[in-house]
Amino acid sequence: MDIPSPAYVFDLPRIRENCGMLAALRDEGGCRVVHALKAFAVPQVFPLLREFLDGCCASGPWEAQLAHEFFGGEILTCAPAYSPADIEALLPIATHLDFNSPGQWARYREVVMDHSRFRSGALRCGLRINPQCSTGPVPLYDPCAPGSRLGAPRELLDGADLTGISGLHFHTLCEQGLPDLETTLAAVDDQFGDLLRREEIRWLNMGGGHWITQPDYDRAGLARVVAQVRDTYGLEAVWLEPGEAAVLHAGELHATVLDTFRNGGTDVAILDVSATAHMPDVLEMPYRPEVTLRDGTPGEAPGVRPHTWRLGGSTCLAGDVIGDYAFPSPLVPGDRLVFGDMAQYTVVKSSFFNGVAHPAIILRDENGTLDIVREFGYPDFRHRYLPGG
Ligand SMILES: Cc1ncc(COP(=O)(O)O)c(C=O)c1O
Repeated sequence: MDIPSPAYVFDLPRIRENCGMLAALRDEGGCRVVHALKAFAVPQVFPLLREFLDGCCASGPWEAQLAHEFFGGEILTCAPAYSPADIEALLPIATHLDFNSPGQWARYREVVMDHSRFRSGALRCGLRINPQCSTGPVPLYDPCAPGSRLGAPRELLDGADLTGISGLHFHTLCEQGLPDLETTLAAVDDQFGDLLRREEIRWLNMGGGHWITQPDYDRAGLARVVAQVRDTYGLEAVWLEPGEAAVLHAGELHATVLDTFRNGGTDVAILDVSATAHMPDVLEMPYRPEVTLRDGTPGEAPGVRPHTWRLGGSTCLAGDVIGDYAFPSPLVPGDRLVFGDMAQYTVVKSSFFNGVAHPAIILRDENGTLDIVREFGYPDFRHRYLPGG
């Protein structure tokens, strides 16, 4: 089968390999590892993820519902704030409910502690802490930036009633290695070590952002750190909730050149995909994705090959530009391009902006067989505004 364009293609063998590394870490370190749905949430892939992982991390009731229906296992929920309706929806299905501030916990403590699942131990509650220890270079992705909305700094906890809270949670990293986690853990110990040593605190969730499945990540070191943390504080469980680690290098976005022209010395190619609608982190982070022609010829840095092209998206946004790439020969309409590493934070953030065609979702198995699990059309666009078929 020829791959249609535009299309995301997710590589199941690569996801299996990534998840194998996460499961090995869990076994070596004696921790629990869940998949953060915010990074990748294609339910057709959940059975594969579930073979290796303990469950999901959800950002609120909708992701929790998806996890409950299609994933199974643990559901760890954490949001900057919950509405009363969120709490009502989460109480029957979440296994961990983490609160972002002592104020949120005070607001919902009574209703939560009264619930049969809390009383039976099926539901545990935690508090997200903020160690105010920035280790990442990009402020947009730094939960420890000054004035952050994410997690309680230590001064907010002095005098707070934490009755019913049995765990602490921090998430401070983004695509980072073990040394940054160790730096963070030192700050956590400095500021929250007394709480972690309290008898009623039974678990610690060390969030996501661990680039565990990158080839040079020190996985053996992380297993040692996890065990150390558990022993230091006498915890029952240490949790990790990576998102992108499970699907790193496991996605492609296939695109087609629709038009080419020259503007003031720049060769421009308009594609049937969009940076803002289909790979928004390219603009938000920002970053430069790898791209190849369908025959594998890479797009290189401008000037490295004779023909440099500005690859532009298909929306009206002036800055809907993926980047400038050099190729051995000119691009022409109909040429196919493949963007790499397009599984994490793509489909979960994509939009129907301008009503541009949304890429199909395709799974590729170990035999190379392709399964188109979702195609999009005008009815999907209309459904955003109108109920019914
Ligand atoms: C609370 C929390 N947990 C886990 C994650 C997953 O992070 P990543 O996909 O970088 O591993 C995030 C990402 O923003 C997060 O905010």
